[in-house]
Amino acid sequence: MGYNVAIDGPAGAGKSTIAKLVAKEKGFIYVDTGAMYRGLAIHFLNQGIQADETEKVIKACQDAEVTIRYENGIQQVYLNGANITSRLRDEEVGNMASMTSAIPEVRAKLLELQQNLARTQNVIMDGRDIGTCVLPNADVKIFLTASVETRAKRRYEELMAKGVPCNLDEIESDIRERDYRDMTREIAPLKQAEDAVKVDSSYMTIPEVVDKIVELCR
Ligand code: DC
Repeated sequence: MGYNVAIDGPAGAGKSTIAKLVAKEKGFIYVDTGAMYRGLAIHFLNQGIQADETEKVIKACQDAEVTIRYENGIQQVYLNGANITSRLRDEEVGNMASMTSAIPEVRAKLLELQQNLARTQNVIMDGRDIGTCVLPNADVKIFLTASVETRAKRRYEELMAKGVPCNLDEIESDIRERDYRDMTREIAPLKQAEDAVKVDSSYMTIPEVVDKIVELCR
């Protein structure tokens, strides 16, 4: 069994930024489970499937192979052999991933892949249900959160920096909607594991959050 660190939390809390930095400092492999759900979401979108067409989603899962590779230390996500990394962060992909991740067959497809990765390697894995379902025996569990306003502002600034036109109020309501969906779904909802350490990053800098987590990994 590898050394396993689980980071869960709502959209925009900074999980992937923090997990990547902790991975670098500790020499762990970073596993981005959201990217796996997003990879499947792209498969459904490519096939013209709507998020509420559950039977079609389940069937489409059968011929989707999502793999994560590291090229020059940067995560690349492949869907049936095609590199789809540049589409992963699109809003429609995030929304499709949030909606279809509530389907048990979608989760079952990715669960084994995630558990296998953690079995043999030292990993820091981020998502919504890592500490509660995927790696219930993780050595360290973090619940990383921040206020909705802070998360919306961070996302707005990220998009503006990329030159993508956007609206702060819309981003905020999108985040609220996604939080609600992720927290209230029947299977593997987003919630803090009983033995997780809660870290609220609203008023913390990135290095402060990284230091706190590295400290817990001793
Ligand atoms: O972390 P993210 O925004 O890339 O995740 C996209 C969606 O995937 C998120 O809204 C919910 C889903 N997800 C999940 O259900 N379980 C995980 N472990 C990771 C992501």
